[in-house]
Amino acid sequence: MDRTLRFRQLLTSRLFQVAGAAAFATPAGVALSCGGNVVVDPVDGAGGAGSVTSTTSLTTAITTGVTTSVGPTVSVTTTTTSSGGDPTYACFPWLGDAECPSGGNALSYVSQFDCAAPHYAFTTAVLDGPFPELDQCCYVVQQDICGVGRPFLVNGAPMAATARGRAEGGGAGSWSAGGLSPEVEGLDAEEREILARAWAQDGLLEHASVAAFARFALELLAAGAPAALVEAAHRAALDEVRHARLCLSMAATYRGGPVEPGPLPCGGSVSIGPDLAAFAADTAREGCVGETVAAILAAEQLSRATDPAVRKALFGIAEDEARHAELAFRAVAWALRVGGDDVRAAVAEVFDQAARDGVKAGGVNEDPRGVLESHGRLTVGAAREAAARALHEVVLPSARALLA
Ligand SMILES: [Fe+2]
Ligand SMILES: [Fe+2]
Repeated sequence: MDRTLRFRQLLTSRLFQVAGAAAFATPAGVALSCGGNVVVDPVDGAGGAGSVTSTTSLTTAITTGVTTSVGPTVSVTTTTTSSGGDPTYACFPWLGDAECPSGGNALSYVSQFDCAAPHYAFTTAVLDGPFPELDQCCYVVQQDICGVGRPFLVNGAPMAATARGRAEGGGAGSWSAGGLSPEVEGLDAEEREILARAWAQDGLLEHASVAAFARFALELLAAGAPAALVEAAHRAALDEVRHARLCLSMAATYRGGPVEPGPLPCGGSVSIGPDLAAFAADTAREGCVGETVAAILAAEQLSRATDPAVRKALFGIAEDEARHAELAFRAVAWALRVGGDDVRAAVAEVFDQAARDGVKAGGVNEDPRGVLESHGRLTVGAAREAAARALHEVVLPSARALLA
């Protein structure tokens, strides 16, 4: 059953309106001079766009198999990730008697584990190896985080905090306490651990999205963007704070203890460049592609989930991510309008690359009882299918309308 067809159709319709309407027709302001860099204190962490006019709820268009009612977006008080671009030593299951794959075969072998639990990363290159270990083949690899939502990129590599089991620095569990509590009765220890990891991973990426929107707001100011876009960027950052709290509070319930983000690695500084083409390309990549896919993945999760707390969280997240996708399309539409051919070429290249490479989406390896799905987690296969639909049915047609 295609439960999110109507959701995708409605979102596509909204993105087409953005592409065609050029909603922010106000002239560009005077660009703010930021000096190029925002200095951030280094830490030892291990490790969308706009106030949209549409108010139609997309999530009510999702076909579900349950009758649980969900309310509107909830307000609650409520990380294992840091892939980055640095080489990583990673091991993968190998049960055969033959030698571990090497050379050109190594990448295709390790790629079958892309975006799977527990790492939720995909391998972009095998740099060294194999190094056989017991029932495993190990390599030095380059990996990236599987995208959900807007990544926080530093020098092209996604950054996120690492989870820790207790609050430090006076936080007192401020991210993962007091939020939504799914029902854990009937889950075995392994299922609870899988769910805790998955929701923690999502929470850490949502936490990183707060930084992505903070930088996005600075970039909009530096580019002289209209006030409505700047305002929407700040609102979206607050959405991401809420998403992080929702996800981390659920992770804490499954784990039975706090799941707090550590310091977010920012690389020491955040570059705010004056290059409108680069800004538009980043927004297209992170927002038009990333947040559109995130919205549709959240809708797919919602359509399958039955736990009331999980459904409540996903209901709000799907709506918000759809709005963030619209914001990204609005920002790119504005950049195209005020920029030159270089902006158009940079944006077109992003969508061309997405069409060529596809979108990576992560999920659980298997779910024989369907219990993980009922708690909002997709299998890798279901997630990849939903991401492919999002890309080919929503992102790319909307991109063509944007660039027409
Ligand atoms: Fe989010
Ligand atoms: Fe978002």
